[in-house]
Amino acid sequence: MEGDRHVKRIRWAVVGCGMLAQKQHIPNVAKSERMTLQVCCDLSDEALRLCRDEFGAREVVTDYRKAVARPDVDAICLATTEKLRLPVIEAAAEAGKPVYCEKPLARTLEEMYRIRDVVQRAGIPFCVGHNRRSAPAMLEAHALFRAHMENPKPCPWRFDREGAARPRLAEDGRAAISVRINDDWHSWKAWVFDKQQAPHGPMLFEMTHFTDICNWFLAAEPVEVTAIEQGMLNHGVLVRYGTGELASLLMCGNGTFGYPKELYEAFGNGGAVVVDHMLEIRTAGLEGAPAVKTFPMLHDRHPAIGTEGGLAGWLKKKQAACREAAAASDPSRIFTAEPDKGHAHALERFADQIEGRGPVVCGVEDAVTATRVAFAAIRSAAERRTIPLSEV
Ligand SMILES: NC(=O)c1ccc[n+]([C@@H]2O[C@H](COP(=O)([O-])OP(=O)(O)OC[C@H]3O[C@@H](n4cnc5c(N)ncnc54)[C@H](O)[C@@H]3O)[C@@H](O)[C@H]2O)c1
Repeated sequence: MEGDRHVKRIRWAVVGCGMLAQKQHIPNVAKSERMTLQVCCDLSDEALRLCRDEFGAREVVTDYRKAVARPDVDAICLATTEKLRLPVIEAAAEAGKPVYCEKPLARTLEEMYRIRDVVQRAGIPFCVGHNRRSAPAMLEAHALFRAHMENPKPCPWRFDREGAARPRLAEDGRAAISVRINDDWHSWKAWVFDKQQAPHGPMLFEMTHFTDICNWFLAAEPVEVTAIEQGMLNHGVLVRYGTGELASLLMCGNGTFGYPKELYEAFGNGGAVVVDHMLEIRTAGLEGAPAVKTFPMLHDRHPAIGTEGGLAGWLKKKQAACREAAAASDPSRIFTAEPDKGHAHALERFADQIEGRGPVVCGVEDAVTATRVAFAAIRSAAERRTIPLSEV
């Protein structure tokens, strides 16, 4: 019966109830019809008070071991910073409970491989918070791009100057993806600069989002990485894949929140699929695909402005919000009409996986590969040489 689909709610313990958990996982669990916010665990009394009073957590605790072991907890959402990963995952594995683990998967390669072993041995459902894979715009762009790569339809207007005389090239059709990240480091919080909590900075904790997207779009095996960094804020990374694909990532921390953060451009087989800030997809050379498709925004405070939606609509809304922020001397007012980056969908899709009715969302193997590419980039930048993936 349709009404019986989710009879048994998944009771979550959220371990680490800081900024991200309060903005995403805790409210997303609390409002889901198939999940219960059973336990919140944090070291901060203030965070726990908020979890109980604002979000309706049934219980609050300070010891993650107690949270994980409770018989009324079915699954763990681990959203502490990267300094705490393996011990919580070990406890969950021992209890046979699924884990949704924030990125990065681990702070060191050694810990990452131990986590992989623990998860594989226990056979628990496991998902890493590479949430962009679950963003509606990304899912659709990925489906369009993979269909085009695996089963391209001839493009009737492709300009083919030499025709039959064209030379045969081994790399004909092979895909490449470019990822451009515009961020503003003045918005970052203190732990980002703390070598204890985040020894590799954004090259690890931000980069794994984007290396994961590259691996996922290209569906190929990364084999070597070349990277340059200028301190913490500017990074350029090139990834070569074994079957001829290429990824290029540019991350700049000296950018602005007044312009979209993320641009993904994937090309191959004479076609292009572009995702602008998860607000709109543009395509060319893909027979039957829409040229432009826009996606709904979240928390739109300016519904009467930029009604055309997509990138153009978002820019108008953002400019209005920035003017308000300046007039009120309150920079927090710049936030409006956020792209749907897939956080809530990632949890819902992981619930499907746990219940055996959906695919693996971002499992430990894929997360390990994305994290290895990031570690190879870190080593490449430090040692100023190309790093084969086999070295990490
Ligand atoms: N997927 C995304 O889009 C996204 C966005 C932002 C942050 N993140 C990731 O989420 C994680 C958390 O980031 P944040 O910005 O929320 O950090 P934060 O510092 O705001 O929150 C971390 C929380 O963990 C708590 N904590 C620390 N040790 C603990 C322990 N032993 N037991 C229980 N709680 C403990 C802290 O008290 C704090 O409240 C990081 O790994 C970060 O990389 C992901």
